[in-house]
Amino acid sequence: MKIIKKIKEMQKIADGVRMKGKIIGLVPTMGYFHKGHLSLMRQARRKSDLLVVSIFVNPTQFGPGEDFKSYPRDLRRDLRLAREIGVDVIFSPAVKEMYPKGFLTHVDVGEVGSILEGASRPGHFRGVATIVAKLFNAVKPHLAYFGQKDFQQSVVIKKMVEDLDMDVEIVVLPTIREKDGLATSSRNVYLTKKERKIAPVLYKSLKLAEKLIKEGERDSREIIRSMEELIEKEKLIKLEYIAITDPGTLKEIRRVKREVNVSLAAKIGRARLIDNITIKI
Ligand code: PAF
Repeated sequence: MKIIKKIKEMQKIADGVRMKGKIIGLVPTMGYFHKGHLSLMRQARRKSDLLVVSIFVNPTQFGPGEDFKSYPRDLRRDLRLAREIGVDVIFSPAVKEMYPKGFLTHVDVGEVGSILEGASRPGHFRGVATIVAKLFNAVKPHLAYFGQKDFQQSVVIKKMVEDLDMDVEIVVLPTIREKDGLATSSRNVYLTKKERKIAPVLYKSLKLAEKLIKEGERDSREIIRSMEELIEKEKLIKLEYIAITDPGTLKEIRRVKREVNVSLAAKIGRARLIDNITIKI
C-alpha cells in the first residue's frame, strides 16, 4: 500500500492507471475509520483496479467553534485497517498541500447546500464540495463512494458532479449501524457511557416515522410530532431538527405522497449526531 501526500504524485499514478484502461475507485474519508468506512472500502475494492482512500480532515467544512482541532485522528490504526482490506493507495495530503497560501476558489452548490445541515452549519457544504472537487482532480476516480448516513452530502455531491460535468460515478451505499441501531460515526467516540445508551432513540424515531407512514399517516407535522415526543423523553438529547423531504431535492414535504427521506440532527453531550432513512410508500 502506497502512502501519497502530494497532489502531483497522486495525479501521475492516476494518469498511468487510466492510460492502461483500468478503473480507479475513491473512498473519500476524514479518517478514524469505523465499520461504515470499512464497508465502503470493501465494496469499492470489488469494482476498482486501483483503490484509493483519502484521509484528510478538511478544515473548510468545520464552522467556528466546531470540532476541527479535536476531531478524532488515528492514522496508524487507519493504515493497518486499510492494508487489511487491500487498499492500494492512501492519499493523505497536508492542509497546506490542499489549501496553499493564496487559495481562493470554492464550489458552492446553492440552495441544496444551505438548507437542513447547511442551515445548522453555514458554509459546511461549500467546504465539502470544494474538497471533494479537489480530491476528484487529484485522484481522477471513475467511481467515488459515499455513505447514505450523510444523505444531504451525497445529494450535494451528485448535484455538483451533474452541474460541473464531472466524469465520475457517485455510488451511495447504505448506512452501517451498531446492533442497537445507532449509525456508525467517528463522532460516536464523544459519547459517554450514559449518552451512548440513549443515542439509539434517534434511529428508533426514524423507524417510528416509517411505521406511521406504512400505517397510512400522510401529514408530515403529525409524524414529526410523534418523533419529537419519543426523542424528548431522553432529557440529555437536544434535538436540532427533523425534516421530511423529497430525496432528490431535499425540499420539505407537507403530505407524504411518494418516497421521502426523513432526517434529523441532535446533540448529545459533546456529540452532534445526524441520521436519516428513505421510506418508500
Ligand atoms: O464524509 C466525510 O467524511 C467528509 O465530508 C468528506 C466527504 C471526506 C469530505 O471531507
